[in-house]
Amino acid sequence: MTDTTTPLIRIIVGSVRPVRVGDQIAAAVAEIIADAADARTEIIDLADLNLPLLDEPRMPALGDYQNAHTKEWADIVSGSDGIVFVTPQYNAGYPASLKNAIDYLFAEWKDKPALIISYGGHGGGMSGAQLRSVLDFIGLDLVGDNVEITLPRDSYGPDWRLVDAQAVVAPYTEELRTAARALDRSLVPQS
Ligand SMILES: Cc1cc2nc3c(=O)[nH]c(=O)nc-3n(C[C@H](O)[C@H](O)[C@H](O)COP(=O)(O)O)c2cc1C
Repeated sequence: MTDTTTPLIRIIVGSVRPVRVGDQIAAAVAEIIADAADARTEIIDLADLNLPLLDEPRMPALGDYQNAHTKEWADIVSGSDGIVFVTPQYNAGYPASLKNAIDYLFAEWKDKPALIISYGGHGGGMSGAQLRSVLDFIGLDLVGDNVEITLPRDSYGPDWRLVDAQAVVAPYTEELRTAARALDRSLVPQS
């Protein structure tokens, strides 16, 4: 039986490449966040959601969604007590897949407690900063500092997947716990 009294934090995997590491980073941070925030976590993989490039005929700010995939995505966001964005850095920014998913919705983001985790060769700081400015603009309640996870070259195997994602994330455990506790303090239960 699902425990609906425990807050639900959804962790969004922002990258959708066929060979990527974002899903591994999300899985590795999920347990740390659940434990520190005393919450349930669920990973939402944008690759599985498979949203087309924004195809709503009307402006999302009007909330008059026409497409089933938009309504499904809106329900996922509105049904979350908090959101964690896990984003890589692509050319000094965050991926188009994540921007597209964000742009689909509007009211659902308002005041939603959220945390940003970036990763890249040097922690993906530029991606996280760019994402923060967009999420601030649309009114999310961004808590804590961004967590920036550096992926050393030798953390990748020959298949370009992380050899040991938990070992990559381990040095950031305390930072993640602090950020997750800040998220926990801001969570607003969704009925
Ligand atoms: C299009 C593209 C651009 C990238 N640009 C950067 C960059 O600006 N800085 C950086 O540190 N790494 C960069 N990288 C390396 C990524 O951080 C690394 O490939 C990471 O694994 C990407 O996340 P993903 O595997 O979940 O897609 C880039 C990778 C791609 C695919």
